[in-house]
Formats: sequence, C-alpha cells, structure tokens
Amino acid sequence: GIEDIFAHEILDSRGIPTIETEVYTDDGNIGRASVPAVTSPGQYEAHELRDGDQTRYMGNGVLKAVKVVNEHLAEKLTGMNVIDQEAIDRKMISLDGTSNKSKLGSNAILSVSLACAHAAANALGVGLYQYIGGIGGKKMPVPLVNVISGGRHADNSLSFQEFMIAPIGAESFKQGLMWCAQVSHTLKELLRDSGLSASFSDVGGYVPNLSGDEEAIRLIVRAIQKSGYRTGEHFAVAIDAAAGEMYNEAKAVGEEGQYYFWKQNRMLTREDMVKMWNDYCRKYPILSIEDGMAEDDFEGWEVMTDKLGDKIKLVGDNLFVTDKLRLKKGLDLKIANSIIIKPNQIGTLTETLGTIELAKTNGYTPIISCRSGETGDTTIADIAVAVNAKYIKAGALSRGESVQKYNRLLKIEEELRY
Ligand code: PGA
Ligand code: ZN
Repeated sequence: GIEDIFAHEILDSRGIPTIETEVYTDDGNIGRASVPAVTSPGQYEAHELRDGDQTRYMGNGVLKAVKVVNEHLAEKLTGMNVIDQEAIDRKMISLDGTSNKSKLGSNAILSVSLACAHAAANALGVGLYQYIGGIGGKKMPVPLVNVISGGRHADNSLSFQEFMIAPIGAESFKQGLMWCAQVSHTLKELLRDSGLSASFSDVGGYVPNLSGDEEAIRLIVRAIQKSGYRTGEHFAVAIDAAAGEMYNEAKAVGEEGQYYFWKQNRMLTREDMVKMWNDYCRKYPILSIEDGMAEDDFEGWEVMTDKLGDKIKLVGDNLFVTDKLRLKKGLDLKIANSIIIKPNQIGTLTETLGTIELAKTNGYTPIISCRSGETGDTTIADIAVAVNAKYIKAGALSRGESVQKYNRLLKIEEELRY
C-alpha cells in the first residue's frame, strides 16, 4: 500500500520549474517521476498549475502544485494499493472534479500517477515497460530525432517547428540511433561548410537561417545521403509544422481561416497549405506531418486527409491533445491517421493508455512524445515499448534530457534480447 507521497519543485531543461514526486510504499519501495512542461500549450490541453507569483521564476513556480500533492493527494491516497493504477487515477480525477484538471493541476496529478507506476514496477521487481505492457511481444519504436528547429522553438527564418529524421530502415533501435547520430553530425559539417550557424535551439535542433522550410528539408536529405544512407530506404523525414501558430497569427491580423507564415511574411489559404504539403511529399521522403493544419481548422484537416491520408502519416498533436474525446471527434470526421501521445496533455497514465488503445483500435498510429521543457525522467521510453508504439519523438541528440530517454531505450532493447 501507499505509505506516503512527497513532491518538490525542480527545474526543467529550460530552467523553468516543474514538479517531481516520490511515492513510498509500506513494503519499502519508492517510485519517482517528474513531468515535462510546454513552450506554447495547445489550447485544449489539461491545465498545468503554476503559482503566478511574479517574485519567483517570473510567475512560473509550481509550489501550489507541490502543496496539492503534499497536503491533499498524499492524505487521500495513503493506504491505496500502489498497483491499482486505475483506481488511483480515477480517485485523483474525481478529487479534481473539473474537465481539464484545473483545480489540482495536471502537473500535480500526473507526477503522482507516474510515480505510483514506478513504485509498483519496483515493488514487483520488473521494468516499468513490463509493468505497464505485460511480458512478451515487445517491439522497439523508431526514434524521430529532432535535427532542425524553427517556428516558436527558434529565432531563425524557419516556420515549421521541428524537422526530424527517422531511421526507418534500421534493424534495431541501437542501429537506428547510431545512424541518427551520424546524420546529426554530418548536418553540422554541412552547415559549417556553408558558413551557417551550427548552434542549437532550446530543444537542441540546429537553427540555421535558410531561405525557407524547403531548404531545411533539402539540407537534411543531403546530410542523410552524405552519411551514406538512402532516403526512403534507410531514412525518412518527419515534420512538426505546429500550424496552429500560423493560424493564430493570421487571425490576429484579421485573416481568419488562413495561415500566416510570419517569419516569411506569407499568407496561405488551407488549399495553399495542402498544395504545399502535397508538393513536399512528391519531392522528398516525408514520413509524417504533425499539426499540418490548425487544431480548430477541421475543414483544413479534412482536405489534407483526403489528399494525403493514404500516402503519409498525418499526425494530430494539438488537434487531439491525447484526449479520447478529441480523438473520437477526429475519428468521426475521419481526419488525420496518427496521434501524438503526451501524458501531460491529459494528466494521468490511465487516460494516456486509454487514448492509445482507442487510437490503435481505429488504425491510428500512436507516436509517444516528449515536450519542449523536459527533465531527465524517462517514463515515455517505457510507455512507448509497453504499448508497442511504432515511433517515439524524444528530441535531439544534443540535449541531455533527450539522450537520457534514448539511452533508456538502448537498455530496454538489451533486456528484451534475453
Ligand atoms: P511543445 O512542443 O512541447 O512546446 O508543445 C513540442 C511539439 O509541439 O510537439
Ligand atoms: Zn507538435
């Protein structure tokens, strides 16, 4: 049973507070988890509780969330069986009582939820991925490794938020990761050779000032080829456009329903957007486009899915926010075909697994993902293996908090060999 729960305020990878929680069981086991945070939260995400006290961390402290855990949840959950994940999560959801966890905070709730899972895995003496996913039949995910940043993640000329490489032809996770490291380093050489900056953004992608997003894709293709790999066979490119940002920028200047690429001063209609995506898909080895339309532009998603849905992965991140209800709406409308899974968008492990299940049942590909503000916590690596997710998006190889997740996957792959 749960004996005590204790939370503290720690810092994420950008020096912004987040919460870490420890769960202690009466048989002497401990589970620990910390949660990530966000640069620009999707408008339909669960609510992250922040202090708003401007005298600390510019209002971003999480002492209120820490207090929720230490003074409220600890008392209410003490005595519950730590392996009863679903009952623990349901209890927190009902104690919160809101539809978006705005009373207790998704950060407080998720840190407890994940720490309980870790404590249970420790109590049972199994890896977290085994505890969540059972034994047997596990496959390793293919990493989508961030190499170039744009959009809100970078002060450069690029509009799309993330450009990633996917080692689709690798025989193992380990081999794929090595390939990605090689391409990342080759890309650095290419940038330096062209007199471009090879420095990094907050999330670890390079931030070159290029003529536009298409040049970024071309540069990545060159790095793949120069490293000795063939596009389409060994590697594909994945893009997170975060198009909701362009949609909001257009709205702000009175052009509702369009997409304003503010860094390039270009206004695109949704038809222009689909034409652009189709053009990129014809010319380049694109595996997936994430948030290629805004989360409120269902019409845009429909046009895009009609045109490209059977060719590439159309991934909803801010569109679905790991929420079963949002996903159900998407299923009804037959938009997108893949879903980003971020546990902190919804706030408990049970709900996260429920959304993954719904996605899989309907043939949508789940992609387990980190956030832009991360910690060394590697829970998403275990979740990816537990649910046999085909892909994981855990950031760039230049950032410690990302590499920790990839390193965790290396170890899991080794364990699975025995
Ligand atoms: P976020 O960015 O964590 O700031 O939302 C990552 C993403 O959009 O996937
Ligand atoms: Zn995204």
